[in-house]
Amino acid sequence: MTAIVEKRILLIIGGGIAAYKALELIRRLRERRYFVRAVLTGAAKEFVTKLSVESLTGSRVYDDLFALTDESGMGHIELSRDADLLVVAPATADLITKLAHGLAGDLASTLLLATDKKILAAPAMNVRMWLHPATQRNCKLLQEDGVSFVGPEEGEMACGEHGPGRMSEPAEILAAVEKVLLRDTRIPLPENLARKEAAGVLAGRRVLVTSGPTHEPFDPVRYIANRSSGKQGHAIAAAAAAAGADVVLISGPVALADPLGVKTLHVETARDMLREVETALPADIFIGVAAVADWHVAKTAHTKIKKNPKQTPCLTLVENPDILAAVGQRSKGRPALVVGFAAESEKLIENAQVKLAAKNCDMIVANDVGEASGVLGGESNKVFILTKEDKESWPTMDKQEVARRLVARLAGMLAGTGR
Ligand code: C5P
Repeated sequence: MTAIVEKRILLIIGGGIAAYKALELIRRLRERRYFVRAVLTGAAKEFVTKLSVESLTGSRVYDDLFALTDESGMGHIELSRDADLLVVAPATADLITKLAHGLAGDLASTLLLATDKKILAAPAMNVRMWLHPATQRNCKLLQEDGVSFVGPEEGEMACGEHGPGRMSEPAEILAAVEKVLLRDTRIPLPENLARKEAAGVLAGRRVLVTSGPTHEPFDPVRYIANRSSGKQGHAIAAAAAAAGADVVLISGPVALADPLGVKTLHVETARDMLREVETALPADIFIGVAAVADWHVAKTAHTKIKKNPKQTPCLTLVENPDILAAVGQRSKGRPALVVGFAAESEKLIENAQVKLAAKNCDMIVANDVGEASGVLGGESNKVFILTKEDKESWPTMDKQEVARRLVARLAGMLAGTGR
């Protein structure tokens, strides 16, 4: 099943009385199933609270450039690239001026300058400020730069004056958003650089992926296994290769073809998988998707265990090495990004958060594998993305789309680490 992928909006809320209308805009966008991330300028926080914006968007609100640049989670480059469209509402005279002249002294203006997506601005300001030649000049410059505008409307202003300067109503802005989204919102790079980008966002990077189950034998013909199909891990390896990375896939026993352009190594047990992972390191990104068995059988019989009505065999289990934790906790040669999966059938987020810290990961992709979910072995996946900074819920998508989005996200994060 291929689900419709919801579009992602980065809403920059400027500091003006119209900021309260941004809350209604978020509500309307969410109603239309857009994923909304919001950024508040310093002045915006005087008009609306982070808490109310956070409650409405359902995700973390950003307001500090430096808190972003020194963290390993969502950097400002990634934040600006992750969206399909940037919406500035209210677009104050200050934000308009900063963008028109390429200033980048705070988070909002930096994001507007760093983005590779289109910008829609909904101006709101006092009538004199709007009509001032400086503002008019700046808007003209922005239009020439490809920025779209909605409003302002003419009417009674909060300051008591009358004229153009009122921010458009949320319904109007929503309609403008949908109109812009009808077209491709990416802003292409100049020709010479575009060719390099076409080589892929992960060109020159090495990515190591584990996938599938492991089999833990207890005699030559029998083993303990799990229901993992390897579909998600293989899709991720394929997506990373399509993004230009040099990919090594270490796969447990699966009924899937080796992905094109991926060096695939086949293993059976968790201990074999760990050995191959250690040999394949170093890497820029490690993604542990494999459903590694937690235990192996202490003693493997060399011959097939015979049925004996008088004595039922008893298997003693020994804990397997934790491959993800071993990679995440490396003091030397740790990949810049270590990503784990958490397949949980209860307390999904809580357990995934514990794993993020315990295994020293940069990201955990959590998915519900309760019986009703159909994820294990199925074609689609519903995941939550957890980083130290952030928690996101992605809609149900096919596993290829999850893989593509994850790879794009990791490429952005990697660029943000500066490594
Ligand atoms: O602890 P749990 O098995 O739920 O953690 C899941 C994550 O840890 C997955 O990314 C899986 O690939 C990884 N893992 C591992 N080695 C283990 C157990 C889990 O790499 N022995």
